[in-house]
Amino acid sequence: MYVLGIESSCDETGVAIYHSEQGLSSHLLYSQVDMHSEYGGVVPELASRDHIRKLIPLIKQCLKESGLTGSDINGIAYTAGPGLMGALLVGAATARSLAWAWQIPAIAVHHMEGHLLAPMLEENPPEFPFVALLISGGHTLLVQVEGIGRYQLLGESLDDAAGEAFDKTAKMLGLGYPGGPKLSALAEQGTPQIKFPRPMTDRPGLDFSFSGLKTFTMNTINASGKTDQDKADVAAAFQQAVAETLSIKCKRALQQTGLKRLVIAGGVSANKQIRASLTQMVAKENAQLYFPRLEFCTDNGAMIAYAGCQRLMAGQQQGLEIYARPRWPISELD
Ligand code: KG4
Ligand code: ZN
Repeated sequence: MYVLGIESSCDETGVAIYHSEQGLSSHLLYSQVDMHSEYGGVVPELASRDHIRKLIPLIKQCLKESGLTGSDINGIAYTAGPGLMGALLVGAATARSLAWAWQIPAIAVHHMEGHLLAPMLEENPPEFPFVALLISGGHTLLVQVEGIGRYQLLGESLDDAAGEAFDKTAKMLGLGYPGGPKLSALAEQGTPQIKFPRPMTDRPGLDFSFSGLKTFTMNTINASGKTDQDKADVAAAFQQAVAETLSIKCKRALQQTGLKRLVIAGGVSANKQIRASLTQMVAKENAQLYFPRLEFCTDNGAMIAYAGCQRLMAGQQQGLEIYARPRWPISELD
């Protein structure tokens, strides 16, 4: 079965075609980064308008690259949430309309389930069950995954998401949007001079909190010198603190569940130091670490096509309504 996947929850228009037996046949991404960077962050209305401009041409191009036409597609998967309402509606309305025109089923996909299953697109995918650390711009979740749709929330951020902390810290350092990759590039030029806090690691539990770390960073920036090297040192200390905090919590989650497989996904999982720190930790725990290729860490259509394909094959589909949910706890999935 060929499934067309559509991702439009934030600032990236992603389209892909996934075949249930042959795997990914094509995927394309248009990033709105250049447009939003002028404003220092995502402008929701501009995001929606740009998805409208880009989505249909990308779908046409994806079909062409796969050597397919609309009549070859057996199902459509679209990101229905969580995300920006206007942006979600563009994908949902387009998907629903095409499904109606082509007389095929459509399925609403949870964006974080897409991220969670992204490592399944790789050559050596993890087997169930596993622990997943989902770190994106809007979410920080630790989930015990028994199978598709069987997710038990182990912990989450009580305030800022990991990606949000990267983005806000980058802003404080005068780096532009998107902050995560820029902060991480700057951190490579620096050395941690001060030990930043590892929030909520001194007490039991698997929840996270990053807002205190943000304040600590702000105070350090105000108190320290303002040379490029000072900034790079702050970036390095911040990144090290986040990487170690995530690593401590993941180790705890593996020990608590007795599982030996850890999946990391979401935009922040592209971070080299976080990957390195988790790689070291799993080696000590005799566990395995799985992550998507870099381009599938951040938002993309391939993960949505894959997740939708699994659900469509299980017999699920959405009714005729245009389904979009800006807030959608992952624990509500079945
Ligand atoms: O998954 P994603 O593309 O979109 C959401 O679902 O939110 O994640 C975007 C987040 C942003 O906060 C971005 O700054 C962060 O991922 N990010 C990174 C890196 N690449 C992207 N954070 C740290 N290091 C990176 N290399
Ligand atoms: Zn995402």
